[in-house]
Parts: sequence; C-alpha cells; structure tokens
Amino acid sequence: MTGLKEKTALVTGASSGIGLATAQMLSTAGVRVIGCARRLDRLQAKMDALPGPALAMELDVADATAVAGLPGRLPQDWQAVDILVNNAGSDVGGRQPFHQGDINQWAGTIQTNVTGLMRVTAALLPGMLERRQGHIVNLGSTQGLVPMAGCGAYAASKFAVHGFTETLRQEYAGTGIRVSEVLPGMVKTDFAQTRFSSVRRGEAFYQNYGQCLEAEDIARSVLFVLEQPPHTVIAQIVIAPDNAG
Ligand SMILES: NC(=O)c1ccc[n+]([C@@H]2O[C@H](COP(=O)([O-])OP(=O)(O)OC[C@H]3O[C@@H](n4cnc5c(N)ncnc54)[C@H](OP(=O)(O)O)[C@@H]3O)[C@@H](O)[C@H]2O)c1
Repeated sequence: MTGLKEKTALVTGASSGIGLATAQMLSTAGVRVIGCARRLDRLQAKMDALPGPALAMELDVADATAVAGLPGRLPQDWQAVDILVNNAGSDVGGRQPFHQGDINQWAGTIQTNVTGLMRVTAALLPGMLERRQGHIVNLGSTQGLVPMAGCGAYAASKFAVHGFTETLRQEYAGTGIRVSEVLPGMVKTDFAQTRFSSVRRGEAFYQNYGQCLEAEDIARSVLFVLEQPPHTVIAQIVIAPDNAG
C-alpha cells in the first residue's frame, strides 16, 4: 500500500495523543480518516479540523455491542476500511503494586487494551479479507517487551497485544492483509493524566521522567509502516526517547 492517497483509515482513540497525531498525519497524506473515541464532542472538533475528509464516530472499544455494530454504522462510502490503527488504550489506576490497585481497574485495562483491540479487529477484518487488502497497525509498547514493576495489568495487556499482533501477521501473510506493531517508549500525551485521574500528577510524571517522545514521533512511524511497498511488512517498530538506553 504505497499510495495512501484516498485510502480510508479508521483510528481508534483519535481524540487525543498518538491517535490524534496519527489522524492528522494520515489526513495530511491524503487519507480519509474515521476517528473513533468515547468523547464525541472533543473528537468531532478534532476531526473537523483535519485538512481532508474525516468522520467522527463515538466508540467505546470495550463495548462489545457498539464495536460489533461499527461497520454497519459507517456511511456506505466509508465502509471499505483499508487501514485500521488500533490505538485506543489506557492504564487507569496503574503505576502501583498489584495488591494496592483496584482489580476492576486492572481488568478494565485488559478490557480496553486487549479485548477492545481484538473486537475492533474482528469487526473490520472480514471486510479486508473480502477485498483482499488491508493494513492493521496495533499500538503496543516497550512495556510489552520489558515490563516494569507497578505496571502489571498494563504490561500484561501490551504483552498480549505483542503476541496477538505477531499471530495475526503470520495468519494473514499472503492474503493482502498486513499486520504491524508500533511499540513506543515514553510519550508525553494525556496518558499519564488519565492513569492518575489528575492533570497535575500527569504533568509531574512526565516532568520527572525527563526526555519523552512526542505523539507526532509515533505518528511518523505509523505512516512509515503504512508507506512500505506491498511486498514488505514491517512486523515491529520500537521507538524510544534518546536518553532511555
Ligand atoms: N503515552 C505513552 O507513553 C505510550 C507508550 C507506549 C504505548 N502507548 C499506547 O499508545 C496508545 C495511545 O495512548 P496515548 O499516549 O496517545 O494516550 P492518550 O493521549 O490518553 O490517548 C488515549 C486515546 O484512547 C482513547 N480511549 C481510551 N479508552 C478508550 C475506549 N475504551 N474506547 C475508545 N477509545 C478509548 C481516548 O479517547 P476517549 O477518552 O475520548 O475515549 C484517547 O483518544 C495506547 O494504546 C497506549 O497504550 C502510549
């Protein structure tokens, strides 16, 4: 899929951070963008501001019924999705020892980051298979390669994304469906404020961390993955801030 112009991409979690930056970069490259997220007002404003055709769809990836009905809710001329960027994710209640956290929040992380990602894939993959073309890009994390204490549910979710992505890549090799994983290190987004349910704690977290990546750094990698010629597939791309070793 070298020519991205006029392809249709669906990006989950497009209301902020990496998903929004990806939607913006894809739109600038001439891709028609379907942005999905739960906060519809915010999402609509962001999609309206894109340079090219874009659609805002309210979607909670953890809502099985909503996700299953997603393809049918898309307007007719937006139903042939060529690119799926499975980006929606969170770590609500994370960064603390397992027993001090809330099991419902740990389970919520798995529901969103793993089950949600699988549900959206299940909803859109049959159409891609029918058309014998598509590219699925899953947002993993370096936490899915090397986990850290305090990140039990989040690391488990990203290990799952890692395994799922590699499995899909093998299963659909040669069918016209390519599957790639983008694995960022620390990126300064709204992620930490959502994790701590506190803007102040979120900002302090990134400040204390030091050099972080920007959402645009990851969006550029997503675009690079998508721009490769049809006979190649980038299985994984790991991006770390330069000081992270
Ligand atoms: N920031 C990092 O350091 C980092 C590092 C590695 C990987 N990642 C991964 O990158 C992805 C994006 O994170 P980010 O850093 O851009 O965080 P962010 O700024 O908090 O954005 C997260 C996005 O996901 C959406 N989202 C969350 N739960 C959702 C749900 N249940 N259904 C639909 N959308 C949902 C949010 O939208 P709504 O709230 O409007 O639904 C938002 O648009 C995640 O998968 C994350 O794990 C982030």
